[in-house]
Amino acid sequence: MEPAGRFITFEGIDGAGKSSHIEALASVFRHQGHTVTVTREPGGTPLAEKIRALLLNDAMDALTESLLVFAGRRDHLRCVIEPALAKGEVVLCDRFTDATFAYQGSGRGFDTKLLSILEQMAQSGIALDAKKMRDPDLTLWFDLAPGVAAARLADARAPDRFESQPAEFFSRVRQGYAERASAATHRFVRLDAGKARGAVWSQLIGSLVQRGWLPATAADIAADAP
Ligand code: TYD
Repeated sequence: MEPAGRFITFEGIDGAGKSSHIEALASVFRHQGHTVTVTREPGGTPLAEKIRALLLNDAMDALTESLLVFAGRRDHLRCVIEPALAKGEVVLCDRFTDATFAYQGSGRGFDTKLLSILEQMAQSGIALDAKKMRDPDLTLWFDLAPGVAAARLADARAPDRFESQPAEFFSRVRQGYAERASAATHRFVRLDAGKARGAVWSQLIGSLVQRGWLPATAADIAADAP
């Protein structure tokens, strides 16, 4: 039988606090004997990391932005994500296609029908076969009010092209995530990222235990992990 890889993505507006949880979750899975690939988008391959630098720094319109995001995603899927899943690994990916619908679709106002076509091309090949499309098995959505996220980011590094957007942009992005979540309830888990870090972590681990992907004892190991 094919080994069952697990493809888990992390989403949320900038400042929602997902990054520290990714490494902590990788440790828990490794502790359970899994091989874990931790990766990110935009990026994840040498080619896609070059595209990331363009996306975060160079001015461009929403169509160019969307084409670049999906070009990087195609390379990332082909070279990193799919091979790891085929070997039965756990893949933890910091952002994926839901971010494109939230940022380029809702945030920038780009046509989501076109995004769906690009999604199918990038994730199933040019056959455009929606049934064969590689979607995450689970998406952990760190949901947070934009005002709180902005306050958390205020003292962080110099903002990039996205982080420097006004609060209204992030309200739209948040709404975009909410729409994606309600259209794919089977794979989305909404985490209340406004809570203390330990409470967010417990909710996160609980959702994995509930799916049978981690043993119930993981919840104890994990309580103070991040
Ligand atoms: P992010 O995960 O926030 O990286 P970092 O925490 O290192 O800043 O991702 C970078 C930005 O890219 C983020 O502001 C969201 C944006 N983005 C899109 O606009 N579309 C996408 O499809 C993806 C994956 C990210």
